[in-house]
Amino acid sequence: MAKEIRKVGVVGLGAMGAGIAQLCVEAGVDTVGREVSMDLAEQASGRMGHFLTRKVEKGQLQQDARDAAFARLSLTTDLADLAGCDLVIEAIVEELAPKQELFAELERTCAADAVLATNTSALSVTEIAAATSVPARVVGMHFFNPAPLMPLVEIIRAELSSDEAFDTAFAFAEKLGKHPIRCHDTPGFVVNRVLIPLLNDCIRVLDEARVSVEDLDAGMKYGAGWPMGPCELVDLVGIDVHVHASEALYEKTREPRMAAPPRLVAMRNAGLLGRKSGRGFYSY
Ligand code: CAA
Repeated sequence: MAKEIRKVGVVGLGAMGAGIAQLCVEAGVDTVGREVSMDLAEQASGRMGHFLTRKVEKGQLQQDARDAAFARLSLTTDLADLAGCDLVIEAIVEELAPKQELFAELERTCAADAVLATNTSALSVTEIAAATSVPARVVGMHFFNPAPLMPLVEIIRAELSSDEAFDTAFAFAEKLGKHPIRCHDTPGFVVNRVLIPLLNDCIRVLDEARVSVEDLDAGMKYGAGWPMGPCELVDLVGIDVHVHASEALYEKTREPRMAAPPRLVAMRNAGLLGRKSGRGFYSY
């Protein structure tokens, strides 16, 4: 049975974490956002405030509802402030060791029945859960970028996840207005298992077919109905994030299509990371 969620913690307020925290406060849930410095936390809350204000300007949200939502967010650098949360969603760096360390710490901090969720996109939820003594309360809640706009959340059952933790995460995603789907903990889960090699194929086609970036994007938008082209999408996701996810999936599956194309690795190494660095396939 799903547990009622009155207070949520979001650890890591980068693009994904800030988007998730924004969804939580908009859904009427008190939310504690944790970053490593107050400076980073305030930058994230500034971005959230901006997107909420844009919704008011576009008539999608009332001013008082916007202010009430924003007031539900509190910021901290101290994990101890997550003690009263019924659910904590982790969205920190995509590395196993820091995530395991965090989950072990969350277990010491949070109530015994709090659900601990990871937003990992390519790591194993089961391996993250293994860092805790009660892995039954750990599940995956994988949001898509940009989290406030993309309807899907993958709810991932790790080897030892309890039905209660799984149902709680599923019900909470519905409360956020999302379309959750259920799956087991396998490399890339559902969407990235398909999307990552597909995007890698798209980048390989750039060189093989000697098509321009603009024409490849036009091809997939106007010939396959994608909302944005593959190069635009990799720029949005972040070239470093995409390369890292490709490497993680290649390591697990050994499927050649999972491996990041050399062109993307070179872009990552040169600091061409897409929108966030001002330059990727396009300039911003
Ligand atoms: N948070 C909140 N609001 C946001 C936002 C964010 N992060 N980013 C943009 N917005 C708001 C903006 O305010 C914007 O309005 P203004 O420009 O008027 O301020 C509004 O959203 C709409 O933006 P757009 O006009 O660009 O919207 P659109 O109709 O073109 O749709 C899109 C944008 C939803 C991103 C659409 O292009 C789309 O669906 N693209 C595909 C995205 C996708 O495939 N994502 C998955 C990536 S893979 C992944 O995430 C998996 C992983 O693990 C890496």
